[in-house]
Amino acid sequence: MTSIKVAINGFGTIGKRVADAVDAQDDMEIVGVTKTGPSFGCDLAVKKGFPLYCTFDEPDRIARFSEQGYNCLGGLSYLMAVADVVVDCSPGKMGADNLAKYQSAGVKYLFQGGEKHELTGRSYTSSANHKENLGVEGVRVVSCNTTGLSRTLVPLYEYCGSLKVECTMIRRAADPGDSSKGPINAIKPVLKVPSHHGPDVMTVKPEIEINSLAVAVPTTIMHLHAIIADLPEGHGLTTDAILAMWEETPRVIVMNGSDNRITTTAEVMEMARDIGRKWGDLHEIFVWEDGVSLVGNRLYYFQAIHQESDVIPENVDAIRAVMGIDMDWRTSVAKTDAAISAYYNL
Ligand SMILES: NC(=O)c1ccc[n+]([C@@H]2O[C@H](COP(=O)([O-])OP(=O)(O)OC[C@H]3O[C@@H](n4cnc5c(N)ncnc54)[C@H](OP(=O)(O)O)[C@@H]3O)[C@@H](O)[C@H]2O)c1
Repeated sequence: MTSIKVAINGFGTIGKRVADAVDAQDDMEIVGVTKTGPSFGCDLAVKKGFPLYCTFDEPDRIARFSEQGYNCLGGLSYLMAVADVVVDCSPGKMGADNLAKYQSAGVKYLFQGGEKHELTGRSYTSSANHKENLGVEGVRVVSCNTTGLSRTLVPLYEYCGSLKVECTMIRRAADPGDSSKGPINAIKPVLKVPSHHGPDVMTVKPEIEINSLAVAVPTTIMHLHAIIADLPEGHGLTTDAILAMWEETPRVIVMNGSDNRITTTAEVMEMARDIGRKWGDLHEIFVWEDGVSLVGNRLYYFQAIHQESDVIPENVDAIRAVMGIDMDWRTSVAKTDAAISAYYNL
């Protein structure tokens, strides 16, 4: 089997994780990762044996790497020449410039949720629209929040045939490694209401009617969603049936908070560290079983999202989709997740 040659443009929080997840797979390989300049992040690429490139083509920027003892193989255009697909993990809103570079190099591309849907005209999440994105030129893998909402809402929608959702997103202020964001002592509402977060689900599943409010709170470890979903008349579901549905859904963990003494995001993250993935990641969405209740047609629940990692396996599935690998989404998800588990000896 020839393996898909994957480039990572932007080896930061998301980029380094996607690189590991790709490296774990038997049908794809990392042909290079980029850094804007020499920094401690280059050491991780060296340790992993990932070829190191510069984000830019200017010779003086490339030269800075060797001045600091790193072997930089060239600028982005050199990397594009050896890649089939590039996963853009640059900070959000840089997409337009980078897209032009990918298109002129003739490589397929993935962007992340910091970019708008309009950049690619196609958004992706494994459970919602894998098939529709087979063989396309490029997609945006939706944000951590949209991925989390899709994981629990798409199976519910597919069972019920319609769904109206209101959710409040309680968002972490910054990632643990980020010293430039806040708030550190305030709760900051997003005053543009409804917020853009919930409706982003409609870029992958337009049939779900959804709105949201969002607030940022002083925590770094997870987002939490408080969700109210209205099911259609005659849905025939019970709370237990919904829990059983999510237990069968890939990349969703349903756990009783009271019985397991996991009542806050702190314990969820401690459990994630026990699982043993690198960086203490939790690719799954965590649903508190005892926080789910269907009252008439109205469903109430909470879920927690590890913002740095739920999108990571989705990027692997999206690579298969854009490369036109004819595999249904459940097969791709199972392959991706099994390879990641084996990679970390879990
Ligand atoms: N962090 C999350 O929780 C999260 C979750 C889901 C999706 N996302 C999305 O994923 C994307 C990446 O976010 P992140 O958190 O990984 O950001 P990050 O940690 O700041 O990493 C971004 C990386 O991009 C590099 N970079 C800077 N300018 C670039 C350019 N012009 N072209 C290519 N690379 C460039 C930086 O390189 P240097 O380090 O070498 O300067 C840095 O390593 C964003 O769209 C974000 O919205 C983030």
